[in-house]
Amino acid sequence: MKNFLLALIVVVITVFVIAGWRGRRSERPPLQIFPDMKAQPKYKTQAETIFFADGRADRIPVAGAIPVEVDPRDGYRLTGQIRDRWGDGFPIPVTEALMERGRQRYGISCSPCHGLTGSGDGVVTEYALKGVVANFNTDRLRKMADGQIVWTIANGKGQMQGYPNISADDRWAIVAWVRALQLSQGASPADVSEARRLEATRP
Ligand code: HEC
Repeated sequence: MKNFLLALIVVVITVFVIAGWRGRRSERPPLQIFPDMKAQPKYKTQAETIFFADGRADRIPVAGAIPVEVDPRDGYRLTGQIRDRWGDGFPIPVTEALMERGRQRYGISCSPCHGLTGSGDGVVTEYALKGVVANFNTDRLRKMADGQIVWTIANGKGQMQGYPNISADDRWAIVAWVRALQLSQGASPADVSEARRLEATRP
């Protein structure tokens, strides 16, 4: 008991000494018991350094780098929006090369979740997000404006994170491929010419 009281007094005095030291101005750096990386060596904006040959501490962005935040003034191609509404239609020519690029980029960035046919059954859904991943082959997603899909790729939606690292033109290429998937998954035999139908049914 005596020891406990002694320990208590020592603790109380220590706490008061440390906590009570506030309010006094000091030019010395503060005493940080848990620094939590608050103080670390760093360069301030536009500082000089001898480390890099050009003498700047700031590095110039790598060629082709795109900003994470898209400036709405940059226009429809980047935002998918015309004034404050979703735009429909492609701001760049839809060529075979664009479709091919879209097929490839979709396969890399989207198919793990949305599936190769866009039905929301990608390999990820075997482990997580089952039933949550959007199915492109539904009326709502078929009717969704091109611009909204472009915007969703860059910014995400709900449980989907954004992919701002996908370049603007690649976003449009992906949308072109999503549209192709929607067409192919919603097609009926009547959409195919007589000759092609016969070809497909030939044994
Ligand atoms: C890691 C999994 C994942 C990846 C990869 C992914 N998505 Fe999604 N996506 C989701 C989920 C989950 C949702 C449903 C989000 C919600 O409603 O909360 C979704 C929803 C969407 C929607 C519907 C948004 C809305 O307004 O309802 C679109 C369009 C879409 N994704 C497009 C894409 C495209 C294009 C790519 C490839 C660039 C992609 N997604 C990559 C998981 C993913």
